[in-house]
Amino acid sequence: MIKLTFFYTKGGTGKTTLCFNYGWYQAEKRAKRVLFLDFDPQMNLIKSFADIPDKAYEMTLEDLIVRRLKKEPVTLSPYLIRVHPNIDILPCSNNFSQVEEYLTDYIIERVNRETRKLQSRYRNLFLKQLLDEIILESHYDYVLIDSQPNYSLLSTTALLYTGRLALIVRPELYSLLDINYLFKIVDLLKERFQAEIKVVGALINGFEPAKTLSRKIAGEYEARIMSRAPVLRQRIRLSSHVPNSITMERRPVFMTHPDSLVAQDMLAAFAELDGLIQADGPVPTLP
Ligand SMILES: Nc1ncnc2c1ncn2[C@@H]1O[C@H](COP(=O)(O)OP(=O)(O)OP(=O)(O)O)[C@@H](O)[C@H]1O
Ligand SMILES: [Mg+2]
Repeated sequence: MIKLTFFYTKGGTGKTTLCFNYGWYQAEKRAKRVLFLDFDPQMNLIKSFADIPDKAYEMTLEDLIVRRLKKEPVTLSPYLIRVHPNIDILPCSNNFSQVEEYLTDYIIERVNRETRKLQSRYRNLFLKQLLDEIILESHYDYVLIDSQPNYSLLSTTALLYTGRLALIVRPELYSLLDINYLFKIVDLLKERFQAEIKVVGALINGFEPAKTLSRKIAGEYEARIMSRAPVLRQRIRLSSHVPNSITMERRPVFMTHPDSLVAQDMLAAFAELDGLIQADGPVPTLP
């Protein structure tokens, strides 16, 4: 089972869009079984699919975690929404901050009861352990997490759980200037948790090949990221087909506009990403 988080610390770079399209690519083109985890309280990933049942707003990741904290037995299947014969989604709640409160109370209660020290990082470990336990290797080929763009309990848990991230960047100045911060976060997490967190590759999205500035900033990413992670050779161009495919048809762009250049960009980039993941081998487990 391959686990991957789509992440960057800047908003609006295309994390949700590419997570959605990559999951569809695995399910449709490679007949893989995909589980999407929507780890962003904006709930954009789940809203990208058509005909989402009302239960998506109640049976959420947050509900699952709170039940576990209350020591109720939990399994994943009642929470899953099947959106395609090969794709399930676990939705997130737009009120995830409640989990942070519950978790903190849980830790305080345990510290009092067991008179031992529990650090705040225990919250991440609790959530990671829960995901490890309920998501069975035999059920999915890919677990793909759409992360929110900041440093939070949710995003750090996503990175710890998957151990791998695809960096989604835009050829824009503010996005470029965040790259050092991103690697700082990754290094900090690796050290705090003694965990392997690998940047499998950086994907330049929203590229405008005819614009000098876009080419220049894309080149600058390559120079700045090169020593830390591969930058995918295949960039994904800016194209109105990308928002249209989701907004109008709730489908990936390679299905709605199969002959478009941007669909070809995506398929080539995804195949390149697959190659990098394969070359990487399995992620070592946390000690
Ligand atoms: N290659 C592209 N060409 C044109 N528009 C794109 C492209 N990729 C993404 N977009 C558009 O850019 C906007 C932001 O994309 P998206 O929501 O996927 O970003 P995000 O990184 O998930 O944002 P957030 O940080 O808020 O979660 C959306 O309107 C999306 O349709
Ligand atoms: Mg998003």
